[in-house]
Amino acid sequence: MATLRLENLTKHFGGLVAVNNVTFEVAEQEILGIIGPNGAGKTTLTSLVAGTLQVSGGRIVFEGKDVTKSPAHLRVRMGISRTFQTVRPLKDFTALENIMVGALFARGESLGKAKERAYQVCQLLEFDRAERYPDRLTVFELKKLEIARAIVSDPKILFLDEIMAGLNFEEMKQMINIVRSLRDRGVTICVIEHVMSVINELTDRVIVLDRGEIIAQGPYQEVSQNRRVIAAYLGEEG
Ligand SMILES: Nc1ncnc2c1ncn2[C@@H]1O[C@H](COP(=O)(O)OP(=O)(O)OP(=O)(O)O)[C@@H](O)[C@H]1O
Ligand SMILES: [Mg+2]
Repeated sequence: MATLRLENLTKHFGGLVAVNNVTFEVAEQEILGIIGPNGAGKTTLTSLVAGTLQVSGGRIVFEGKDVTKSPAHLRVRMGISRTFQTVRPLKDFTALENIMVGALFARGESLGKAKERAYQVCQLLEFDRAERYPDRLTVFELKKLEIARAIVSDPKILFLDEIMAGLNFEEMKQMINIVRSLRDRGVTICVIEHVMSVINELTDRVIVLDRGEIIAQGPYQEVSQNRRVIAAYLGEEG
């Protein structure tokens, strides 16, 4: 059974169709890449799965259960988690407290247990700036914090929305290792990414979106040769 199945998923924003009749599955412990030019619908799709946006049509099936109408906080408890493309930590809380908030809300844990879990997650990510406030963190540390917040709920599936943006080569290498270690711990992963070398190195398979529709899917090596895919990227502005 697939961990996640999207059936004819559709999202309209007024007259704009941001996600158009998208159907695919994600297998357990797969690392699936979701790529496509700016505005293709990648973040919208993530928000639909997370439940922070409601679908206009179609179904979301997670571990065999239809979660299309489930509220976002219940989806987190069931094991669906995501990072945000624009990191947005709570500024008046330390990094550790930010991570604890995730544990407190997602898992309904006691303060002590939440703190313990937050520390565990920091260790796992080799994040040693837990006592700092977000404005004292580098881009790389902020991205790690964003991942920490997302995994403290102990997800079964994790959507990573452009975690490589703004990182240097060395940091990207470390981030790739982090993603692999999460997969090795049993997490199914969807990576949304513009850095194609990372997609090539990290993913088992990719889905290519353009204007809300799937235009190609398969191993990155194959898909990157696809004429529709090349045309979609060449047509990209800016
Ligand atoms: N809340 C919203 N209200 C109206 N339109 C939206 C909203 N969110 C996204 N859109 C539009 O939906 C389309 C898909 O946007 P989305 O952010 O999902 O693309 P993306 O693939 O994540 O792009 P990027 O690579 O730039 O992050 C775009 O045309 C965008 O302007
Ligand atoms: Mg996006």
